[in-house]
Amino acid sequence: MLKHTLSRLRCEYLTNPLGLGETSPRFSWEMIDTRTGARQSAYRVRVATSEALLRSGTPDLWDTGKIDSTEQNQIAYVGQPLKSRTAAVWEVTTWDATGQSCEPARARFEIGLLEPGDWSAKWISTPMVGTGWSGPPVPVMRKQFRIDKPVKSARLYSTAAGVYDAHINAQRISDDYFRPGWTDYLKRIQYQCYDVTSQLRVGENVIATLLGDGWYAGRLAHLERSMQYGDRPALFQQLEITHTDGSMTTVVTDDSWHWCQSGIISSDMLQGEEFDARLELPGWGEPGFDQPVQAVVRVDAPSPLIVAQPNESVRVVKEIAPVAEPKPVSGAWNQAATMFDLGQNFAGIVRLKVKGPRGATIKLRYGEMLQANGSLYVENLRGARATDMYTLRGDPAGEVWQPRFTFHGFRYVEVSAHGRWRRDDISPKLEAFTRETVTGLVLMSDTAPTGSFECSDPLLNQLQSNIQWGQRSNFLEAPTDCPQRDERLGWTGDAQIFAPTAAFNMDVAAFFTKWAIDGDDAQFDDGRFPAVVPHLAGVVDNDAGPGWSEARIICPWTIYRAYGDRRILERHYTQMKKWIDWQASTVNPAGLRCADKCGHFAGFSDWLSLDSTWQSTTSATPHDFIGTAYFAYASGMMSDIANVLGRSSDADTFAGYRQRAITAFNNEYVTNNGRLSVQTQTAYLMALSWDLLPETLRPVAFERLMALFQERDWHLSTGFLGTPLICPVLTRFGRADLAYKVLMQKDYPGWLFPVTNGATTMWERWNSWTPDKGFGDAGMNSFNHYAYGAVGMWMYETIAGLRADRVITAHAHLELRPLPGGNLTHASATLHTLRGPATSSWKIEAGRFKYRCVVPPNASATLVMPDHATHQLVAGEHTFECANISG
Ligand code: BGC
Repeated sequence: MLKHTLSRLRCEYLTNPLGLGETSPRFSWEMIDTRTGARQSAYRVRVATSEALLRSGTPDLWDTGKIDSTEQNQIAYVGQPLKSRTAAVWEVTTWDATGQSCEPARARFEIGLLEPGDWSAKWISTPMVGTGWSGPPVPVMRKQFRIDKPVKSARLYSTAAGVYDAHINAQRISDDYFRPGWTDYLKRIQYQCYDVTSQLRVGENVIATLLGDGWYAGRLAHLERSMQYGDRPALFQQLEITHTDGSMTTVVTDDSWHWCQSGIISSDMLQGEEFDARLELPGWGEPGFDQPVQAVVRVDAPSPLIVAQPNESVRVVKEIAPVAEPKPVSGAWNQAATMFDLGQNFAGIVRLKVKGPRGATIKLRYGEMLQANGSLYVENLRGARATDMYTLRGDPAGEVWQPRFTFHGFRYVEVSAHGRWRRDDISPKLEAFTRETVTGLVLMSDTAPTGSFECSDPLLNQLQSNIQWGQRSNFLEAPTDCPQRDERLGWTGDAQIFAPTAAFNMDVAAFFTKWAIDGDDAQFDDGRFPAVVPHLAGVVDNDAGPGWSEARIICPWTIYRAYGDRRILERHYTQMKKWIDWQASTVNPAGLRCADKCGHFAGFSDWLSLDSTWQSTTSATPHDFIGTAYFAYASGMMSDIANVLGRSSDADTFAGYRQRAITAFNNEYVTNNGRLSVQTQTAYLMALSWDLLPETLRPVAFERLMALFQERDWHLSTGFLGTPLICPVLTRFGRADLAYKVLMQKDYPGWLFPVTNGATTMWERWNSWTPDKGFGDAGMNSFNHYAYGAVGMWMYETIAGLRADRVITAHAHLELRPLPGGNLTHASATLHTLRGPATSSWKIEAGRFKYRCVVPPNASATLVMPDHATHQLVAGEHTFECANISG
């Protein structure tokens, strides 16, 4: 008889995590079962401190017993209390719909250091400090130590104020980049836990860690100064070695450590990195190193809290080769240079492979676009120097280098020999640059891809690719606006509009879990929520205003919906409530938010919309209109959140906020005939999307919205806030055909305009570049801003028809509703849900609409075909067809 199996066992969304900070970690698993109607009817989880205890049927930590339940996600541990360093094996058995059980599957997790008293490490640094303009060289922090007895296991608990790259016996301990990650270091610093057992040996050992400025002491955003959190980086490491005889050896950062120079002369996240291979001291990672070292200095703890990192680290997720042999161009100051085209705009670094004489210096500059003459366009990088330098040691076998503590946003790399090494008349010369000289390394928080979309229109496929690359380029520690210029901030507005699409594209549950904690750190005491998270003093020191500050609730709500994660709502509920109460307390006497006399920052309006003037950032839709509409919308969402958590009296209060906001909105902006006093697409989109109008007036308002689109020949004029609403609103009111029409406009302004102009990522502005005006205002012109990619959700949900149930979370039920249009002949989407892969796909053949879907095990679906025939589906593969009724 066919049996199901289990896969993708995860704990806190991670596979076999080490160093967990949760004492009630949540488990999830996937059922592999291709049978129609596959369903879990029960589960049993057992947790023990050893595999042997599980095998003997005596788990010492937890045994749920057989539980009749279809839950396979968010199963929270409530066994014996988990203490620091508890290493556990967990096992799950499930029963299928017929009551048959599977082979149990096993995975591991390990608790980190929970108590301050678990740490005996001290914070150490060097006397070197940077200036407000540039950082100091990067030191290697070293300690040599002896191991006398065989090692059973070893863990390195490690963090820094700054960024670190740890080595044991000259081997990097992991593939992670930029650890400990970016938080508001003055409030909390994350640590990591690594299994370093295999790198240690009996005898002499060395731990040696490169320590860079990173976000902590380096340059951040456009603030024109470094040292946002502190003036120099510091290190905090604790290596715990358990011997086979049960005894322990601990090596911690303290006065006994030394530091020496590394080859990194300077390094800054935004400015770039400079490496002189001649200065790198041979053997710095090995015992027996006999070069000059200096004593470390002790520094105060930079942060009151050291916490476990809850999400995936930044890693190289892809490598990219140049599309062709590089071309000669005129580089900076008109000097000869070589241009590499990687064919894709992204965030990351390059691996450089060169051969040449000792002392020759290579300069790498990065840009997203080229000027008409083929040279690099760098004006839009503003203050980010985005330049790396490598000086050769002169190895006859050639040299390979990549920066450690910086990254750039780029598609093009301009490589040149620096200074006299550029001359032709010197010998020996650098070997000529070829396609092999440069390889792109894509860096991001390593969130697994989960969604895909494909259809018969290559331009829409490119749009989908651009949307995903926008995410890949900006989901690095925080959801940043852009990776290239001196900004890279966790803009809250951008994040809230894109979050639903993000959760389709990739598994962002842990990523947003971390960012929600950053949100707590960033929130002001009275409840206001800032424009950027982690918050930076000097970037709107107030509530961020409508459309931005709502990220406080929209992002956790998105994670709850997509992953069934109630905990993220519970954990942040107090802060969310504080935020909405503050909103409620700042309405004017007429009940409007952000009207003139509100006395606080009124927000960024419908940022970058086109209904104002060319290159203007503010919109024709006024702040108070947006403020009041958003307040009604957010209050409704807060009421839903309170209901989920069983807080019905709060839910009533928030519903009351919503009602009052709707009344004020109608009094101020709506005529008796359903016209709005604000005649913008965004105004109508908000009113219709969030049910702000009485039902009787909605059809009239919708007519007016269509007229506004028609006036622009079915082009949009919306900014960050209005744009995500266009396709859903047109579809909801029965005009999916018009949604296709607006989406598929190839000329300016519209989503496909950048695509037809060669974009490989989403642009910040509809007019970042136009054929007649060229590049837009360089002061704010990113070619890698994910915000307008929020339309991705509509492509998944409406074109392909793969949509989550509006109430049931975590894709336990799907609402499949494909709406063909735009002359497409096929479309297909997949989503790797927490239950397994779901697919919705169709093609039009010989006048028939042919549909195929896969409902994951343990899920169900309601399918509405284009001819409105409705089918209730169980797990498994299904096909249907009907007459093609699309235009
Ligand atoms: C950022 C945007 C952000 C905006 C808010 C810009 O500089 O790039 O993405 O939302 O500021 O004003």
